[in-house]
Amino acid sequence: MRLSVIGCGYLGAVHAAAMASIGHDVVGIDVDERKIASLSKGEAPFFEPGLPEILSEGIASGRLRFSTDMADAHGADVHFVGVGTPQQKDGYAADLTYVNAAIDGVIPYLRAGDLVAGKSTVPVGTAADLAARVSPTGATLVWNPEFLREGFAVKDTVDPDRLVAGVPSGEEGERAADILRQVYHPAIAKQTPFIVTDYATAELVKVAANAFLATKISFINAMAEIAEVTGADVTQLADAIGHDARIGRRFLGAGIGFGGGCLPKDIRAFSARAEELGRGESVGFLREVDAINLRRRDRAVELVVGAFGGSVFKKNITVLGAAFKPHSDDVRDSPALDVAVKLHGLGAWVTITDPEAIENARRIHPQLNYVAERDEALRGADGVILVTEWDEYRRDLSPEHAATLATGRVVVDGRNGLDAAAWRAAGWTYYGMGRP
Ligand code: UGA
Repeated sequence: MRLSVIGCGYLGAVHAAAMASIGHDVVGIDVDERKIASLSKGEAPFFEPGLPEILSEGIASGRLRFSTDMADAHGADVHFVGVGTPQQKDGYAADLTYVNAAIDGVIPYLRAGDLVAGKSTVPVGTAADLAARVSPTGATLVWNPEFLREGFAVKDTVDPDRLVAGVPSGEEGERAADILRQVYHPAIAKQTPFIVTDYATAELVKVAANAFLATKISFINAMAEIAEVTGADVTQLADAIGHDARIGRRFLGAGIGFGGGCLPKDIRAFSARAEELGRGESVGFLREVDAINLRRRDRAVELVVGAFGGSVFKKNITVLGAAFKPHSDDVRDSPALDVAVKLHGLGAWVTITDPEAIENARRIHPQLNYVAERDEALRGADGVILVTEWDEYRRDLSPEHAATLATGRVVVDGRNGLDAAAWRAAGWTYYGMGRP
């Protein structure tokens, strides 16, 4: 099939390359000339495992190209819209500027029978508004939310755990759903659940899923707060409740909490939208979820400060990690970077290392000291804090080796990712989050 993908950021670039990898003829469109130039050379503008390979293959096969000209969308059977919906600068609601621009931009190039498939995360009610604008062209709007995780984005796109399509009622909707089944043919052939529903449900599935995940993380972090005043160990608690199949162990990792370009802004936008709908109280708990999450960053700082008797002034603190999670170079609302900034603000001499995210971190916090090489960053440290659980730190860094580099013996485990017993045995004073 011929597809266009409007917006070549995280979501769009991966979607375009992944669709080419399953045999479609794809054009990715974005207003950012530098991004398009880089993608056209097969270079991913951000770190995502597996993306460079499918980009190069797609371009070499002739099935994948990129353009800054919206006219190149003309002739595609399906136009995916994957532009960003960031938090508004002066509030919690989502900023729909890019979605509106993408729809207005593509409308002149639509043919009757084309599909416009929205993938961006939007406030419920948006699709119905956009459909009214698209329908005079004879094209059909569908809402087809995306559930990919950064770091696993290629796999999640080609082989998702479910597909959701919000379609208009009647024959038009049935036809639209059939077209999407053809687009996602390998997943459909594998019997991947394909849920066909209305616009509002499709929009809500996306925000509900992210709200649930955020709530699960803040739930275990709330338990960590209780564990901290009772002497309990939240990691054992998570293991124990996680054995209940109804609860499950995944996303019960207590630590400095969630960040990134999705969970934080999505729960805020959801709250803002619910308030507009007169149902603010229905998701009032999301304010608590947000507050618990932000408190954990302060708690990590408190642990470091406490370890040094109440002041980190002029202490050399090595921060292991800057990305909001491993397998990503994304530092948007990164709890890791936030902790580093707070320690710097308290007068610590902070050295940050990260396998992938240093350049992005430096761009937004040029005042901090960055060292690419892990061991170099650890040299002379009075204390160490793990904030992004990359394998390089969690699995591959032995406490004995770290002791040959650092001067002090304080380690704070902001992700509960280290082997506490091993670090203690090697002479370190170990502090976990929600652990004795
Ligand atoms: C999230 C969702 O997981 C995806 O399903 C969704 O498609 C995506 O947002 C989106 O809306 O685009 P992502 O932001 O890539 O994906 O990251 P997650 O893997 O969900 O992690 C989010 C944050 O939670 C990270 O900072 C991570 O460190 C933290 N986290 C995760 C915890 O603190 N504890 C856990 O147990 C798990």
